[in-house]
Amino acid sequence: MSTIAVYPGSFDPITNGHVDIVRRSLQVFDKVIVAVAYNPNKDSSWFTPAERVAMIRETFREEKARVVADAFSGLLVDYAVAKGASVIIRGLRAVADFEYEFQMTMMNRHLTPQVETIFMMTGESHFYTSSRLVKEVASLGGNVAGLIPDNVVPLLVERANRFRPSA
Ligand code: PNS
Repeated sequence: MSTIAVYPGSFDPITNGHVDIVRRSLQVFDKVIVAVAYNPNKDSSWFTPAERVAMIRETFREEKARVVADAFSGLLVDYAVAKGASVIIRGLRAVADFEYEFQMTMMNRHLTPQVETIFMMTGESHFYTSSRLVKEVASLGGNVAGLIPDNVVPLLVERANRFRPSA
């Protein structure tokens, strides 16, 4: 029986820290669904769900069917059950992530005990990378190469030019 894991997040945009977690997950699970969560009523994201899915798909083009990119709204646990996934993957960086992750895990466990959350530590070169920070760096004209997949760099730079604060 194949094990399907859901790796949920905002992915606005996907970073190399996320890529690292997916690659680690592929060593443990047969298939990873990278699931872009969105809230149709409250969304301040830079990229639409479809744009985020397209960037993820391109990033993992060579993995073929083992990595699937998708978008969902509503409860994560309902999405995981609907996809036949028994595991939710979350990445951990610094200790600061712990409290937020702990609360979400406990709530998801309360809602659907049969879906287990498993944490993966990112590689140390990604400890400081987050979508929020790369957007801030890009919007201030900083170099984001190496922090996000190569295919995402021009898209982020283009979007950052729209959001760049005027001097
Ligand atoms: O990348 P993020 O923003 O840290 O991911 C947070 C995410 C998407 C995993 C979380 O907000 C989520 O699960 N959203 C779906 C809605 C839901 O199920 N909420 C209850 C979770 S306790």
